[in-house]
Amino acid sequence: MRETELIRSLRAVRQFSDRQIPDDILLDILDTGRWTGSSKNTQPWNLIVVRNRETLVALSKCGQFAGHLAGATLAIVLVMDGDDPWTCMDEGRLMQNLMLAAWAHGVGSCIGSIYPGDTEQRARELLGIPSNLFVRTALSVGYPAGPQALRLPANSPVPKGRRLLDEVVSWERFGNRRPPPRPSPQGGGSSTLV
Ligand SMILES: Cc1cc2nc3c(=O)[nH]c(=O)nc-3n(C[C@H](O)[C@H](O)[C@H](O)COP(=O)(O)O)c2cc1C
Repeated sequence: MRETELIRSLRAVRQFSDRQIPDDILLDILDTGRWTGSSKNTQPWNLIVVRNRETLVALSKCGQFAGHLAGATLAIVLVMDGDDPWTCMDEGRLMQNLMLAAWAHGVGSCIGSIYPGDTEQRARELLGIPSNLFVRTALSVGYPAGPQALRLPANSPVPKGRRLLDEVVSWERFGNRRPPPRPSPQGGGSSTLV
């Protein structure tokens, strides 16, 4: 098993089983999220755990593509102090760490964006969030309904897989697709990455 397998195998899970998440696992997921690094260690976040089914259903209507929240075992809603680029990056890091922490326990998750913008106020009212705070994302959380829950349905318009490494990475300057030869410490010969 590759050391990075946990990270590589993380997929969006939108269908969930009825199996409950034990409290110690949920607390570990939340506590791992709490340890996320943030810009200047400002930790500009609060988390709301939602288990109430009616609230989950109402939340699922606060996002154009957030329907999966209705069937999640629970949601973790990210409440952020700001909407500047650094805080948004902090939010992304927090979300990814929560997802990875869940996945380390075999628990699946998927982001539900609170979108378009006017639905944010609805989510605030639903969860009693003060108007000076931001709520852009809720995470559906639960054990996957089965192996098919890790794959997109065949008719999904969302692309599958990932772009090729060669297409994504440049070396030294934008667009250089091959790494330049590396000088060896002895000064002779060269090696290239393949
Ligand atoms: C910023 C962001 C917003 C997302 N919003 C939604 C969403 O509203 N609804 C949804 O079902 N998936 C959402 N996703 C999940 C993406 O669709 C998913 O990461 C992508 O399709 C890759 O899925 P895979 O890892 O299963 O291949 C979001 C992901 C990110 C990073």
